[in-house]
Amino acid sequence: MRTQVGIIGGGPSGLMLSQLLHLKGIDSVVLERQSREYVLGRIRAGVLEHGFADLMREAQVGDRMDKEGEIHDGFDIAFDGSRHRIDLKGLTGGNSVIVYGQTELTRDLYEGRDKLGGAVIHNAEDVQPHGMDNDSPWLTFRKGDERIRIDCDYIIGCDGFHGVSRKSIPKDKIVEHERIYPFGWLGVLSRTPPIAEELIYIRDKEHGFGLCSLRSRTLSRYYVQCPLTDTEDDWSDDRFWDALSKRLPADVRGNLVTGPSIEKSIAPLRSFVAEPMQYGRMYLAGDAAHIVPPTGARGLNSAASDIYYLYHALVDHYKKNDDTGLQAYSQKALARVWKGQRFSWWMTNLLHNFPDESGYGQRLQDTELEYLFSSEAAQKSLAENYVGLPF
Ligand code: APR
Ligand code: PHB
Repeated sequence: MRTQVGIIGGGPSGLMLSQLLHLKGIDSVVLERQSREYVLGRIRAGVLEHGFADLMREAQVGDRMDKEGEIHDGFDIAFDGSRHRIDLKGLTGGNSVIVYGQTELTRDLYEGRDKLGGAVIHNAEDVQPHGMDNDSPWLTFRKGDERIRIDCDYIIGCDGFHGVSRKSIPKDKIVEHERIYPFGWLGVLSRTPPIAEELIYIRDKEHGFGLCSLRSRTLSRYYVQCPLTDTEDDWSDDRFWDALSKRLPADVRGNLVTGPSIEKSIAPLRSFVAEPMQYGRMYLAGDAAHIVPPTGARGLNSAASDIYYLYHALVDHYKKNDDTGLQAYSQKALARVWKGQRFSWWMTNLLHNFPDESGYGQRLQDTELEYLFSSEAAQKSLAENYVGLPF
């Protein structure tokens, strides 16, 4: 087989890039290790910044998001029993976020690919990039008993944190930066009405972080911080609701509607960046190159700017014979990636209990929140990062 752009990974990054390129007449093939059902069974975060929403529209897959997604003009931070609203819209001169599940968004991207007849190959085993350091790279993979080779001009690694792309770069050509946090998030999805109209991030001095989020008016998503050694089996539904309830500010506690969990999972919190995001003719995008703790809702949105830059760079290459975008990709993408890293790290530090932190660190944390609530400048900084810095 031959294609112009060979994409490894059929998550949001890979699908979005192939869809955008297709609309500009650039050919690509997406190789995804899992089945479509498996990819669409993963529950992930659900806050989209406006830049990502614009990309969905440009990719002609934004209709359902615009119909079913909820525009949120603000969210609450609860601390010490009281709630403070961060007025995203007012603080940013009119910006907001869209609450729309990443699972739904991935479904829309698959439908968009189907509609245009895009090539997405599922259950592609042993995907391997080759020849990235010369002008004619290729991909190999196995489908059943068949071994298949795809020649291409460029390879794009969109295969997430555990993918093969980053790992195929020689160790002396890439630097990895990492921070692992001493807790995880236990998440529960339940078919119950959300506790409030907007998201509530909670720091409870005694019990730690909590988050009340939602997918729709009948589907809620909640999180509490938990020790890394815990497993889902340690957490009955009752134990979860009790842990969440203890963290809720008193004025909303009575609104909590509990019910059986339809999904329950523990995710460790990690910050990670690989530099540069390029090796010869292979470019990394999204979780393949960087991940953030979910606290600032930056995961998908950091991927979005990578895709935006790559998309424009590849269009410039194919349509204008101009390679400056490709040459600048890693540097440009990383500049925004690091800002997302800084913000996610800051918000994680702001809202969690750190088991090793003693009195001084905790007092600084309290002071950071008190300062935030008292300073419009500090809230502006939070808000402009939360709605998304410009691409
Ligand atoms: N070969 C082929 N596909 C692979 C391989 C491989 N060796 N390894 C992983 N994949 C696939 C995964 O099955 C997954 O579907 O690559 C895809 C990567 O998707 P994501 O992990 O969703 O990463 P990305 O598309 O960059 O999305 C970034 O979505 O996943 C969230 O937290 C993430 O919010 C962030 C955003
Ligand atoms: C979610 O709804 O899953 C969610 C929302 C906001 C976050 C993280 C996760 O910061």
